[in-house]
Amino acid sequence: MTDTAWWQVYRSMDGIEVFAIGLSPDAALEGYALGLLSQPERTRYRRFLVEDARQQFLLARGALRLLLSKRLNRVPAAISFATEAYGKPYAIVDDVPAPVSFNISHSGDDGLIALTGSRSVGIDLERRRPQVDLDGVAARVFGARERAVLSGLTGRKKLDLFYQLWTCKEALIKAKGTGFSYDPTRFEVPDTILAGGSSARFGFPDDDTQHWMLEDLGSDTYAAALAYQP
Ligand SMILES: CC(C)(COP(=O)(O)OP(=O)(O)OC[C@H]1O[C@@H](n2cnc3c(N)ncnc32)[C@H](O)[C@@H]1OP(=O)(O)O)[C@@H](O)C(=O)NCCC(=O)NCCS
Repeated sequence: MTDTAWWQVYRSMDGIEVFAIGLSPDAALEGYALGLLSQPERTRYRRFLVEDARQQFLLARGALRLLLSKRLNRVPAAISFATEAYGKPYAIVDDVPAPVSFNISHSGDDGLIALTGSRSVGIDLERRRPQVDLDGVAARVFGARERAVLSGLTGRKKLDLFYQLWTCKEALIKAKGTGFSYDPTRFEVPDTILAGGSSARFGFPDDDTQHWMLEDLGSDTYAAALAYQP
């Protein structure tokens, strides 16, 4: 057992709590987290071929279980997970979907978990890696306006905008639940974000019935964004 939480509140807005999780190697925390996992999760844990990915999955899933347990007032073992059509996980308690919505993202030693009631949420976090061919990747995943603004920048500004756009778009497709099956070139972030803003209302071009709020959550350490149903 441990009383140490390896997460802390990162941001809180509009009824949504965002927790920052530390995913650095820690044998004591990892042992504790392993004890929280269900049998299918332990099987998945053992199947990771890369040690870092295995250990980061363990600490992220352990933190998620403890946060859900506290919110639902149930022991971690009472919670199981199922997935939507494109892989977005949700929590099950007493054989029915639990009244909680969450999404998780991790990159390197950092993770973020967004938690709220029944509204859909999506979160993404990426370490900014300068060695990436920014314009080459942008050609495959960004829209025309996004690529045009990016191509006019150089150096740190270009790197920052690339990862801001990437995390905003990924948070939106994670909120929607489609993941990569929704072509990210089919939609563009709102002008407010392209002009340097950190918050905007958004609608997918093929769905005018549902709107989303988009929040930039980036820090000096990483780029991050949250999308949620207002
Ligand atoms: C899972 C996915 C949605 C994100 O993958 P990723 O960036 O490598 O990983 P992240 O750390 O941000 O998120 C992983 C978590 O997302 C959740 N997730 C999985 N599928 C999901 C989906 N369809 N929708 C929302 N969340 C999903 C899971 O909880 C997963 O964590 P877990 O495996 O520990 O349970 C990926 O399948 C995907 O489609 N990525 C899109 C990549 C892309 O083209 N981005 C373009 C941005 S311009």
